[in-house]
Amino acid sequence: DKGNHRHFMLKEIYEQPIVVAQTLRSYLRPLDGQVALPIPDFDFADIRRVTVVACGTSYYAGMVAKYWFERFARLPVEIDVASEYRYRDPVMEEGGLALFISQSGETADTLAALRHARAGGQKIAVVVNVPTSTMAREADLLLPTHAGPEIGVASTKAFTCQLAVLAALAANLARARGKLSPKEEREIVRHLEEAPAAINAALAYDEAIAVVAGQIAGARDVLYLGRGPDYPLALEGALKLKEISYIHAEGYAAGEMKHGPIALIDDHVPVIVLAPSGPLFEKTMSNMQEVQARGGKVVLISDYDGIQAAGEDCLATITMPKVHPLIAPIVYAIPVQLLAYHVAVLKGTDVDQPRNLAKSVTVE
Ligand code: F6R
Repeated sequence: DKGNHRHFMLKEIYEQPIVVAQTLRSYLRPLDGQVALPIPDFDFADIRRVTVVACGTSYYAGMVAKYWFERFARLPVEIDVASEYRYRDPVMEEGGLALFISQSGETADTLAALRHARAGGQKIAVVVNVPTSTMAREADLLLPTHAGPEIGVASTKAFTCQLAVLAALAANLARARGKLSPKEEREIVRHLEEAPAAINAALAYDEAIAVVAGQIAGARDVLYLGRGPDYPLALEGALKLKEISYIHAEGYAAGEMKHGPIALIDDHVPVIVLAPSGPLFEKTMSNMQEVQARGGKVVLISDYDGIQAAGEDCLATITMPKVHPLIAPIVYAIPVQLLAYHVAVLKGTDVDQPRNLAKSVTVE
């Protein structure tokens, strides 16, 4: 049932404050200022590295998590898409945790990779939205997301719930390895607790985002740029746009533009820049100016301070609430989802059932 929404995708975008809160509830103990996994006795102490494997949007959630595992838990992290990981003869050592991320828990490539890692002696952790799925059954450490059924083929609420679980997992790993003081843990819990309200605040810009969609719906190509943990969001934004609006879109690490893709820039190519204010803001702004100097039309997604500082010469700006960098990838998922959604509606495509795509990919 779509309720009073026109599409399942829009309904699912709007469910995010609730389902992210619901998911966090089983991973945080706010009164104690602690993270707590649903399997409290899982032993992380001898984990020496993490391998993250997934496909599509779930893979992008894993890319964000890589930053968190490295930063908080000081663990080396390797990440790959499942269809590559499975067939490249990866080196699996003792003390390896292999982490699989999947909405459906049935994606054939991810499942094959999971079994391959198990055969290689890795401990298997799974972040999955369908608790009865094959991957859920085969995990040593089952970390469910509580997004509820996702009907729209384009993943939305499963992604933000995955990020919520992965942030809690990062903090848990960090604590188990003695890398997190109680004060730092309390801070992480506090920031995560702020995510549902911040998502709500981001949703309030829906109409403004629909207006921006009108400015890019005629484009043939769109680029998305981000840095650090917001770089995977650029990839996710591009994936969402191409899969439901059929506009060619690419995401790049902002600093990588000048190594090639900047040659694509002219005034027909909208460039969506994801740049929350924070430690990476200035660098991203200089990349944005490189684009503008070549006539590129920029849509800047930032908070009020960021837009005040750098929004002047942009085609459009989208204002996000000011949030801690930890939760920025969760909050900035909202405008990229809504932008793709509104462009697709303007183009009249089948938003919930895009051509050539299936909700669950059960062939390798
Ligand atoms: C994109 C999308 C796909 C899935 C991918 C993995 O919107 O939905 O890229 O993310 O097929 O699916 P799961 O997470 O079910 O393994």
